[in-house]
Amino acid sequence: RIAYVNGLYVPLREACVHVEDRGFQFADGVYEVCEVHRGRMIDETRHLERLKRSLRELRIAMPVAESALKVVLRETIRRNRVVEGLVYMQVTRGAARRDFVFPAEGTLPSLIVIARQTDRQKADAAAAAGISVITTPDNRWERVDVKSVSLLPNALARQKAKEQGAREAWFFDEEGYVTEGAASNAWIITPERTLVTRPAEFGILRGVTRTTLLDLARREGLTVVERPFTVAEARAAQEAFITAATAVITPVIRIDGAPVGDGRPGPLAARLRAAFHEVAE
Ligand code: PDD
Repeated sequence: RIAYVNGLYVPLREACVHVEDRGFQFADGVYEVCEVHRGRMIDETRHLERLKRSLRELRIAMPVAESALKVVLRETIRRNRVVEGLVYMQVTRGAARRDFVFPAEGTLPSLIVIARQTDRQKADAAAAAGISVITTPDNRWERVDVKSVSLLPNALARQKAKEQGAREAWFFDEEGYVTEGAASNAWIITPERTLVTRPAEFGILRGVTRTTLLDLARREGLTVVERPFTVAEARAAQEAFITAATAVITPVIRIDGAPVGDGRPGPLAARLRAAFHEVAE
């Protein structure tokens, strides 16, 4: 496997970043994960728009021109022969002597890109079977709208889920409303067949898969409401599912051990999953 690191394509096992890279020492960086389907990036434009927004919010410069970044993404996918998989890009504020304050101008931001094949059949099987989620208090910082590499609470939540036999953890806020998953957005379908997901103005990441699914659902004439829902409401829902570049649309069949609906993947989530790649660009 081949990685792109600051201008060079190198074997993955030799791909390194500087010990004083601010991404490494301060989690001072942002990232994107984009799905690769049939050799093409899904929703590339939306991912790049969000990358630029995250960088702007943290006042980190684009490491290369957007056109060059697109070339690097394609080249990394090509060199790794990825047909079904993921491409990961990360930009940090760069390497500088350790100091909490931003480094002097002239410090170049770092860019790394890696890509890998994933097991599409395994993912489809997981989606067909449905997944379990646990719930856990949202203990992240306030700026989770920025896709930063500061992911320790997310990693701890996912580990906790795994230890309890679940695939994802849903964070909930102080009032008991679900915010989002450790690495996905959370959705429910009410008994009235209304799709419900939390508004993305504040407190969650505006998922690209979420945005594209909102388009798809509205195009299909489904009723969609962007409002918070509680853990209790999710348990009583008809269907539940998650969205992420790494999961597309994956049905949730258990929340904290209790079944959602009849405890089997819901038909509407399955239908939306099947239609997703037709609308995603
Ligand atoms: N995570 N919320 C959080 C906290 C996430 O980390 C992610 C994605 C999402 C879904 O966003 P999108 O639909 O754009 O992938 C929501 C990526 C996949 C990851 O960290 O691996």
